Amino acid sequence: MLGLFLPIQAGGWSASTLPRTTTWTFDYILALVAKAEMLGFDLAFALAQWLPKGGYGGVTNGMALDSFMSTAALGAVTKRMMLISTTHVLYGPWHPLHLAKFGATLDHITGGRWGINVVTGHRAVEHEMFGRQRIEHDQRYDLADEFLHVMKRLWSDDENFSFAGQSSWRLNNAFVTPKPRYGRPIIVSATGSDAGIRFAGRHSDLVFITSPAGSNIGQALESVPPLANRIKQAASEFGRQVRTVINPVVICRGTEREAWDYHDAIVAHVDPAHRPERFDSDAHAWRGRDSADVIKRRAIGVNLHVVGSPEQVVDQFLKLRNAGCDGFQLSFYDFQPDLAFFGAHVLPLMKQAGLRH
Ligand SMILES: Cc1cc2nc3c(=O)[nH]c(=O)nc-3n(C[C@H](O)[C@H](O)[C@H](O)COP(=O)(O)O)c2cc1C
Repeated sequence: MLGLFLPIQAGGWSASTLPRTTTWTFDYILALVAKAEMLGFDLAFALAQWLPKGGYGGVTNGMALDSFMSTAALGAVTKRMMLISTTHVLYGPWHPLHLAKFGATLDHITGGRWGINVVTGHRAVEHEMFGRQRIEHDQRYDLADEFLHVMKRLWSDDENFSFAGQSSWRLNNAFVTPKPRYGRPIIVSATGSDAGIRFAGRHSDLVFITSPAGSNIGQALESVPPLANRIKQAASEFGRQVRTVINPVVICRGTEREAWDYHDAIVAHVDPAHRPERFDSDAHAWRGRDSADVIKRRAIGVNLHVVGSPEQVVDQFLKLRNAGCDGFQLSFYDFQPDLAFFGAHVLPLMKQAGLRH
């Protein structure tokens, strides 16, 4: 699977001031999605964030389109790609009945190409924006489990559905029609914790993983296999199968030297005003990470970094696939030209290597 991680938030994933075209505006996003669809990408995905004024600071100033709205709008102007919206199911007045209805509607609008990335909110500040305290990590997954249970029932049940569980969601004779026309929408989650893996095993079709030990390829190749195995094992305990998708930032140029020069220029322009640690996070997925190359991680992104010539990028993809990654959800520093370069120089080699049809 090949996906594009849409930069609907200012700065994308990279807190660097090296000049680039990347911007969160809808016209820019639309052009990226059109290009990705033309190149045969399978999915496009947008994250969701709720940050106070100033965001993470500097180029990551918090300006961001809404994930759900943006991917829904893209649904009407694309033909083939899956579109994944991120939703914090525990915030505000979301009710499973809302999302079941919206999801069924988007399933019809897109011809079965819509899916949901279920997130529970790892930053305290986000819950506080909604007038609550952050809910304890594992309890969030229990509540999300109820939300998903209800939403799936509303998508599938032919009769009215009533429900009362541990959460505040109550339903009396609730019903959603039309049902999703093309089967249950795709469910996605992102995790590295035991509770999150259990949740993914029970509900998710795709699981976003990040490299647990650090951003470089060596650290990823060592630490991804046990994580991917745990996730697949958790799904098999529920009699299910899941696919793992990793999210590299791809820095690719014609030669290895040029790629590393580009990498070094991004790092040299690291934005000192970017301060993500201003906001407490209780995410487990990144806990074991090496703190040595924090400047690189800020400038390029917390994701896995795949750097090199087209041949070297494909070689790293092959190794990641052999390490248990079923898909790549790509981001770039300068999305428009870097995606075009990827399409022209890397994709043909991926086809030759049997990574794409
Ligand atoms: C690829 C990827 C995308 C994510 N997207 C979002 C997002 O849009 N919004 C959000 O609040 N968290 C997002 N997260 C964070 C996860 O929801 C979750 O908090 C994190 O993976 C830690 O989960 P864990 O504590 O179960 O390990 C994302 C994580 C990954 C790896």
